[in-house]
Amino acid sequence: MRIPIRSGNIRKPNDMMRLIVTAFVGTVFGFFLGVSFPTLSLTKMNLPSTLFPSVDLTYIEDKYSGISTKALLDVWSSFKSNRGISTRLYKFDGTKIWVPSNPQGAERLPPGIIESESDFYLRRLWGQPSQDLTIKPKYLVTFTVGYDQRNNIDVAVKKFSENFTVLLFHYDGRSSEWEEFEWSKRAIHVSVRKQTKWWFAKRFLHPDIVAPYDYIFIWDEDLGVEHFDPEEYIRLIGKHGLEISQPGLEPNSRLTWEMTKRRGDSEIHKITGEKPGWCSDPHLPPCAAFVEIMAPVFSRNAWRCVWHMIQNDLVHGWGLDFALRKCIEPAHEKIGVVDSQWVVHQSVPSLGNQGQAEGGRAPWEGVRERCKKEWTMFQDRMANAERAYFQSMGVDPSQFNGSIIK
Ligand SMILES: *[C@@H]1O[C@H](CO)[C@@H](O)[C@H](O)[C@H]1NC(C)=O
Ligand SMILES: *[C@@H]1O[C@H](CO)[C@@H](O)[C@H](O)[C@H]1NC(C)=O
Repeated sequence: MRIPIRSGNIRKPNDMMRLIVTAFVGTVFGFFLGVSFPTLSLTKMNLPSTLFPSVDLTYIEDKYSGISTKALLDVWSSFKSNRGISTRLYKFDGTKIWVPSNPQGAERLPPGIIESESDFYLRRLWGQPSQDLTIKPKYLVTFTVGYDQRNNIDVAVKKFSENFTVLLFHYDGRSSEWEEFEWSKRAIHVSVRKQTKWWFAKRFLHPDIVAPYDYIFIWDEDLGVEHFDPEEYIRLIGKHGLEISQPGLEPNSRLTWEMTKRRGDSEIHKITGEKPGWCSDPHLPPCAAFVEIMAPVFSRNAWRCVWHMIQNDLVHGWGLDFALRKCIEPAHEKIGVVDSQWVVHQSVPSLGNQGQAEGGRAPWEGVRERCKKEWTMFQDRMANAERAYFQSMGVDPSQFNGSIIK
C-alpha cells in the first residue's frame, strides 16, 4: 500500500495534492474492505501508521473475528455508536493514558496495573503477599445452607479436599454458629436472610470473581454424599468432556426425571429415554442436554455463560435446567450425569419453610407457587429474546419449528 514519493517525480504542487488525496481515498477504501471481510487479517494489511496512528488493529480483529459478513453492517454501526469512533481513533498526546483495549471504563489505567479478575483465596495480614498462599484451590464448592442442616453439610464439606474453596451461603442469618466446625474457619461465609441459591449465585459468583476455578459446584444442602468422591468426579467429567454435569441421583420415589437417575453399569451418561411423548427430540431435554438445578457442576466457560442467563428477579431458578443447553455446543455431548459418583437427594424441606404464611396456607405453598410462576416467566423471556434476535437478523423464527425457540 505504500506509495513511493520521490521529490523528482513531483513537478507541480497540484500533483502533490492529487497524490495525497489518491493515497488517502485508497487507504480508506482498503480499511472498509478490511472491515467488510473480517476473515481478511487487518493486521496483515499493513495500513499506513500515519493515517491511523492509535487504532489497535489486533484488538479490533480479536473483538470481531468469527463474525459472518452478514452481520457486517451491524458490527460497523455498533462499533461507531457504542464506543464512539472518535475515542477509538484518538491520538496519543504524549501525556495522558487512554487504552481502548482495557476493560470498559478502565481506559485511563496503564494495562500493567489492571486486575480484571479476582478469587476467594484467603490472605494473611502480615509477611510477603507472594508467600500468603500455600495452595491455590482449583475448584469451588458452594452450599446454600440453614443451620438446621449443619450435620449434613459437615459430612459433605469433609469430602472436599484442600483443592476446593468452600463457600457457604447462609439464608437463615446464623452464620457465626458454624464456628463449631474446624473447617468453618477456612470457609467463606456469606449471610443474607431468606435468599435462594440462585440469588446468591448471581450476586456473589460473578464469572470474573470465580475465574481461577476450573469447576464450580453450586449445590443444595440436602445431598447425601456417602458415595461421592469429588476428585474422582472431576477426573471423570474431564475425561468425558462434560462442561455441565451433576452426580447421578440414587433412585427413590421422589425422582422426576429419567436423565438424572444413577445407572449402575456406567461411568457417565448423556442421553436417556423418557416416558412416551416427553421428548420431541432425543438430543433435547429432558432426554439429553439436561441436568437439574439441585447439584450442578459447571466448567469455568460454561459458568461464564450461565451466569449471564440467570435473571435477577427469578430467584428460584426453575426452568434454568431446561435452558442450560443454550450455553454449550453441542449440548447433548457436553452435558451429562456421572453415574459412578452419585448422591442421594434427601429432599428435606428447607428454604421453603422460610416463606410467608398467608391466607391460611402453609409457608411452603406460596413458595411453591412462586417457583412455578417463575418457570413460566423464564420460558417466556427466553422465547421472546430469541424471537427478537432472529427477527432483528432478518430471519423468520417460525422456520425453526420450536427446536431453537422453546
Ligand atoms: C489435589 O490436587 C493435586 C493436583 O491436582 C493432586 O495431586 C492431589 O491428589 C489432590 N488432592 C487430593 C486430596 O485428591
Ligand atoms: C416445520 O413444520 C412444517 C409443518 O409442520 C414443515 O412443513 C417444515 O418442513 C418444518 N420445518 C423445519 C425446518 O423443520
